Amino acid sequence: MWKEDIEKKLKPKKIEKDEDLFETVEEVFDYSTVMALYSIINKGIIGEMRGVVKSGKESRIYWAKGNNDEDLAVKIYLTSSMEFKKGILQYIHGDPRFKVGKNYRKIIYTWAQKEFKNLIEAHSVGVSVPKPIHVFKNILVMEFIGSNGVSAPLLKDWPFLSEKLLNQILNEVKKLYNNAKLVHADLSEYNIMVHEGKVYLIDFGQAVPLTHPRNYEFLIRDINNILRFFRKAGIETPEDEVIVNWLKN
Ligand SMILES: Nc1ncnc2c1ncn2[C@@H]1O[C@H](COP(=O)(O)OP(=O)(O)O)[C@@H](O)[C@H]1O
Ligand SMILES: [Mg+2]
Repeated sequence: MWKEDIEKKLKPKKIEKDEDLFETVEEVFDYSTVMALYSIINKGIIGEMRGVVKSGKESRIYWAKGNNDEDLAVKIYLTSSMEFKKGILQYIHGDPRFKVGKNYRKIIYTWAQKEFKNLIEAHSVGVSVPKPIHVFKNILVMEFIGSNGVSAPLLKDWPFLSEKLLNQILNEVKKLYNNAKLVHADLSEYNIMVHEGKVYLIDFGQAVPLTHPRNYEFLIRDINNILRFFRKAGIETPEDEVIVNWLKN
């Protein structure tokens, strides 16, 4: 029903591949998300949507092409997960950059803006993250990390763990802390990618500024997640306190 509606509304504008877009996104997303995606396409930020890269409870990541044929990652937050909406509030309250009311859809929009802003702040001081490109409503567009639509491996699947790789990661966390003044707050082998010899920190929705009352707790948790992962692989690591002291200097 609403498919006809949208087509009517959008007719005068330039839309390519709309059938494909519908096939890709129609079953998963509500009307306003599909409209938001169209709006981003009409602005010329996305040229073409390709396949789903990863489908989670809270978001879906798509591979897309920009108008200059560059690879993009499009993260679309689902507006339907109630549990998610409740869970994320602890990372929004306490962050003076964002205020939210009780409108759940708007909370998800704020979450996408927050991830975008965190990526901008991290990227602008040289932390290795996917380059943020655009955000609108619940849709975030960023650089695609990987090749030919295949995401680079996550740290959890990376077979060549070494002390050098650990140090690379800790250096990124240090830059994030000292230069971007942010704590990731969900850092683990699931939110780090390894691509062409570089590590990338990803998934920044929950990252908080150092002014957040729980920033220290989140920092220690992040560091311990990484240390635990490397220790499990038989790599010797310093204690978390040693890392925290080093990181703050
Ligand atoms: N910029 C990107 N380029 C390529 N793949 C990505 C990118 N961002 C995320 N992914 C892939 O999508 C998955 C989910 O993304 P993530 O941001 O961690 O969302 P979630 O909140 O679902 O964990 C990642 O594990 C990774 O495989
Ligand atoms: Mg993740």
